[in-house]
Amino acid sequence: MLTHFSDLKQEALNRLEATDSLADLEQWRIAYLGKKGEVTAALRGLGQLPKDQRPAAGQAANQLKGLLEQAYASREQALKSAELASSITREALDVTLPGRPIAQGRLHPSTRTLREIYSIFANMGFQIVRSREVESDLFNFQLLNIPPHHPARDMWSTFHTTREGVLLRTHTSPGQIHTMRRFCPEPIRVLLPGKVYRYEQVTARAESMFINVEGLAVGKHITIADLKGTLVNFARRMFGPDRELRFRANYFPFTEPSAEADMDCILCGGKGCRVCKYTGWVEILGSGMVHPKVLANGGYDPEVYSGFAFGMGLERIAMLKHRIDDIRHFYSNDLRFLNQFS
Ligand code: DAH
Repeated sequence: MLTHFSDLKQEALNRLEATDSLADLEQWRIAYLGKKGEVTAALRGLGQLPKDQRPAAGQAANQLKGLLEQAYASREQALKSAELASSITREALDVTLPGRPIAQGRLHPSTRTLREIYSIFANMGFQIVRSREVESDLFNFQLLNIPPHHPARDMWSTFHTTREGVLLRTHTSPGQIHTMRRFCPEPIRVLLPGKVYRYEQVTARAESMFINVEGLAVGKHITIADLKGTLVNFARRMFGPDRELRFRANYFPFTEPSAEADMDCILCGGKGCRVCKYTGWVEILGSGMVHPKVLANGGYDPEVYSGFAFGMGLERIAMLKHRIDDIRHFYSNDLRFLNQFS
């Protein structure tokens, strides 16, 4: 019996030494110390022994059990630390690896240009007011001194709706009437930005939807000098301190007199190039002194009040500023274009 214990001990210790994982170790425990394990069986077998051999065999069996339990515990400890160590190496972070680039959102070039324009005019005391995109014929045309069937309507190719007299605004000018009616008789200095729609062939220079920025100032002593001063200041803050504007007489039904403002070409500095069609000037906006009829439609007495107004295409301004050659880039969602504006 005692030799059996000693063989068992040797065998168990050898096999314990050979375990190389916690799962393996568990198999070992079941084989030797488990309910049906060898040591347990040996302890149970003690009863079969002749009486005089029992004490010595019992002691040896208990010693063996104690020794194997201890050996088990220390092997378990060793395997646990080995597994921990290897998992640390396996999952280690290489802090020298280059980071993954973070995709950064950015503002659309139209939004950025619009915000620049806002801040320039806000500094001159203009307030930003929004007005509706779906308009009535009355506000888009008639109250702006463009009667039904008047040939001036040809200046705006219009998207009509199936509702009689309801259309998509062709310009932000109807916002002038809304604003005047809202603030009358207070003096006004407002900027009216927003989308406008034109039923036109889409080309490099024209889109069927684009953004207009309208300006309106109404008060008691407003003159054309205020109009020029405001617009020259805008052009210089937007495009550089040396910019020059030239006012060219023109016709708009809602202003009298009316003028288009041309700026010296920022590409060639006025020498003449493709962008300015070799004239040295590029048109940037339409403007004028608010027509007496329009002032009256807004509720202001034209004998007492006067005002100036202007309207510009936002994309046109952005195109000049960033040398963009095709208006279609703005709304075609091409990331190669958009990513250039960081
Ligand atoms: N509404 C005009 C257009 O879109 C632009 C414009 C011209 C607006 C002169 C004005 C103005 O307020 O005075 O073609």
